[in-house]
Amino acid sequence: MNFGFTEEQLELQEMVREFVEKEITPIAGEMDAENATRPELFKMAADMGLLNVIVPEEYGGLGLDSVTVAMMYEELGKGCAGVATSMAANALATAPVLIAGTDEQKRMWCDILNEGGLAAFALTEPGAGSDAGGVSTRAVHDKEKKTYTLNGTKAFITNGGIADIYLIFANTRKDGGIRGLTAFIVPKGTPGFKVGRKEDKMGIRPSNTCELILDNVVIPESNRVGREGQGFRIAMQTLDSARPFVGAVSVGLAQAALDVAVAYAKERKQFGQPIASFEMVQEMVADMAMKVDAARLLVYRACAMRDEGVVFTKEAAMAKCFAADTAMEVTTNAVQIMGGYGYSKENPAEKRMRDAKIMQIYEGTNQIQRLVIANKVMY
Ligand code: CAA
Ligand code: FAD
Repeated sequence: MNFGFTEEQLELQEMVREFVEKEITPIAGEMDAENATRPELFKMAADMGLLNVIVPEEYGGLGLDSVTVAMMYEELGKGCAGVATSMAANALATAPVLIAGTDEQKRMWCDILNEGGLAAFALTEPGAGSDAGGVSTRAVHDKEKKTYTLNGTKAFITNGGIADIYLIFANTRKDGGIRGLTAFIVPKGTPGFKVGRKEDKMGIRPSNTCELILDNVVIPESNRVGREGQGFRIAMQTLDSARPFVGAVSVGLAQAALDVAVAYAKERKQFGQPIASFEMVQEMVADMAMKVDAARLLVYRACAMRDEGVVFTKEAAMAKCFAADTAMEVTTNAVQIMGGYGYSKENPAEKRMRDAKIMQIYEGTNQIQRLVIANKVMY
């Protein structure tokens, strides 16, 4: 079953698979322990064009369709969900510029990515997570000087401490609300723009997650992406495109956990026979395999709908939600099948289980995905 994937898609999938097996999987545990990634990985990924996958060809990128991008993220998810998250954050942060940016903004932004730069998407704040419209970072317009001054704090930002360019949401209305939410480009090193606390996380530890502080950050008017007040819609459209990619990373994570658990079940003997022969183990494996396949199909469907240009908000939420729940369940059962050995840090199974949890939280918690799905199904 390959849904008529093209030669190019299969070649890219194979290339990323080799890169992951050779360069990422062998050091995933070390990066987890070090709570940091290896910059040389991003350099290698950049050389392969993996950091600018959604950048259109006219702006120097690979200009890949969503199905191909999902195939790539699944492979990265098999090796390390943290590395995959950091690479996917580049696509997430780029989408708003591609949706609403001027030609000049697109060129400037994409040039940075084409040179191997990293990007960050900063929506969440200490007081505004699921309620994305509750952003309180303020952007005050000075019409004479043609500038905006930004003040506020962003929380849990992927690549926050290592990005070269940031897409930041702020409110242009004193009284807040979604009608004032606006997107801005803020380059690294802009005076007053500081990286705050680095998060010490349960999982995806190789992915850098930091607080960002904006203390009287002055940027030119020309760094506003889209119109004042267009930010909420831009953020929602961006998240629609990106949520299936979280699904794809989740599928990779789950597939890798399943593969290792099956190999272990065939090897490990108890009561004089391989544990694979016990029906309760077989039931777990059957459910794991079925859900991984179902999740993958939901991811491909959402991506294919996006590529066809039809409305896919509900399908994007379904793909993210189901695949994330699958990753959590499958990685937990992989540990179960491996018993005490699965629980040991010597074994990558426990890292995968810790990594899976975030899939149910970021890019909209799975409760928020269910809200989106229910709204689309019922109203
Ligand atoms: N596309 C276009 N427009 C949309 C939209 C979509 N998918 N969803 C909503 N809108 C529009 C609506 O049409 C509405 O417009 P009008 O007022 O003009 O009619 C407006 O936006 C408000 O919509 P809602 O009333 O539905 O908004 P809400 O305040 O109830 O919030 C929500 C909806 C789904 C809960 C939203 O706030 C949400 O998605 N929250 C989760 C936040 C999130 O996902 N954060 C992720 C941060 S990034 C991240 O996590 C990255 C990472 O880890 C690497
Ligand atoms: P809250 O919104 O406070 O939710 C707490 C609980 O309440 C959750 O279980 C939630 O589902 C539930 N809840 C809230 N509202 C409702 C409701 N209406 N109905 C039912 N249940 C509800 N953000 C960015 O902008 N950019 C990033 O790059 C980024 N990267 C991240 C990386 C990591 C490692 C982490 C942990 C987070 C990241 N985030 C990022 C933030 C992430 O998107 C938020 O954590 C997430 O949206 C949830 O917000 P919150 O943590 O404030 O939880």
